[in-house]
Amino acid sequence: MTAATTGAAGRVPTRRRRRRITRLLVAALVLVIAGVGVLALAWSRASTDTTGRVIFDRPLAIPPLAPSRSESGTRVFDLRAGAGTTDFGVGDGVTRTWGFDGAYLGPTLRAERGERVRVDVTNDLGESTTVHWHGHELPAEMDGGPHQAIEPGQTWSPTWTIDQPAATTWYHPHPHGRTAEHVHRGLAGMFLVDDDDSRTLDLPSEYGVDDIPVIVQDKAFTADGQFDHRSGPFSPTGVLGDTVLVNGTIGPYLEVDRDKVRLRLLNASGARIYDFGLVDDHGHDREFAVIAGDGGLLPSPVTADRIRLSPGERAEIVVGLQPGRDVVLRSHPTDLGADFWNQRFSGGDDRLDVLQLRAADRLVPGPDLPGDLGPPPDLDPADAGVTRAFRLGGTSINGLDMDVRRIDHVGTAGETELWEVTNAGGTPHDFHVHGVRFVVADVDGRRPPPPLRGWKDTVYVAPGTTVRLVLRLPRHADPDSPYMFHCHLLQHEDRGMMGQFLVIEPGQEPGRPPAAGHDAHALTQG
Ligand code: C2O
Ligand code: CU
Ligand code: CU
Repeated sequence: MTAATTGAAGRVPTRRRRRRITRLLVAALVLVIAGVGVLALAWSRASTDTTGRVIFDRPLAIPPLAPSRSESGTRVFDLRAGAGTTDFGVGDGVTRTWGFDGAYLGPTLRAERGERVRVDVTNDLGESTTVHWHGHELPAEMDGGPHQAIEPGQTWSPTWTIDQPAATTWYHPHPHGRTAEHVHRGLAGMFLVDDDDSRTLDLPSEYGVDDIPVIVQDKAFTADGQFDHRSGPFSPTGVLGDTVLVNGTIGPYLEVDRDKVRLRLLNASGARIYDFGLVDDHGHDREFAVIAGDGGLLPSPVTADRIRLSPGERAEIVVGLQPGRDVVLRSHPTDLGADFWNQRFSGGDDRLDVLQLRAADRLVPGPDLPGDLGPPPDLDPADAGVTRAFRLGGTSINGLDMDVRRIDHVGTAGETELWEVTNAGGTPHDFHVHGVRFVVADVDGRRPPPPLRGWKDTVYVAPGTTVRLVLRLPRHADPDSPYMFHCHLLQHEDRGMMGQFLVIEPGQEPGRPPAAGHDAHALTQG
């Protein structure tokens, strides 16, 4: 009896339990299906396509050339970082922005190889910042990294002698943990270096006429016309905007009356990787000539129909125009080497119209492009005395987050080193080194494509890929001031994907790891 009772009593709860379990399973299934649905919806909405939808109705702004004065042989520039408002034609036209000597972006600095320059940078922002000369070979103290803080109301006056080939370089803030926001608000500008070769070669070189700075940034705007600094919930790389600005102009066109125009392309975005191409008014791809990379002219022009630039990279291209015909600079979908999820949420599937070139009905013909632009880089992996490995994963390098008090490695001034940079994670990264130019020796053992065979300072590193770089360390030794290396996807950099190296003379002792900002003064004085 006892057994039967137990059996009967046990049967009822078992049936109930089964029913409950079934109900739970159904609920879980519904949740999973809903979750997959939400993700699928997010995935399908994650790509942006503005092609054919951008109305090119605003003349492209050309950043003014920064005025300079000569002080006992030194070319002196002034830059003032401050806040303002800009009318982008969005919302009520009062977007709060930051800029140098103006409300958005900054003037173009220009100097010649061999010249001594000084820039008096004044901080009129309400917070500490720095200004870094991206692409310049200079003493670490002048580099403008996280250790050279400029406090509000202060002026910082770095000075150095330009001794590197002609190139399109740029400047932007680098305060530790705040770089993405400072750049995104609008603090960035170009710095052109000229030399005897670049001056005598038959290249389009009239600034703002046939030699055009093209600073490309993507923005998202809030409903009330402000910059939206938030990145999407699934974004592995940072803020991706659906609105492209060139030199601060939305929907820009440029009228050209020459048969060739040189575009100095700078990816000044924090996260977006562009794959630029040109499309004519019949929708056909047009070829162009790539003449320079980050660090200067290529050995010879390279014919291409695409040029991919990750954040921080530059390229100079020369575009041939036909009378009365428009061409559009467009960013195409690009295989980032990531899985379908990261590809999508890093913007790899996006299509964006960038800039319209409007050719006049009569074009002034210029000379053909020279076949030779200069000597190829003279660095070879075989010359490297030191090999170093850098593993990019998560937002760390070699498992470590940036620490302003930690020196990651110490090298010898002028020595050639081989840096093996591996993206060990699933998300896109790039890699930038301060104070040097480098050569991309190979990508997973293969020679890089021709546009990457010149001098560079920033390079894309696809997931699962190893890029080997050969570089000659700066000749300026300083046991106390480090140079930075980092991912130039600015959110990654801010989250810690950065490290520091010192360059010293043989026999010299490395100094104490300095801290950033005020602490640095306290430490060096203490
Ligand atoms: Cu353009 Cu350390 O950066
Ligand atoms: Cu830099
Ligand atoms: Cu990164």
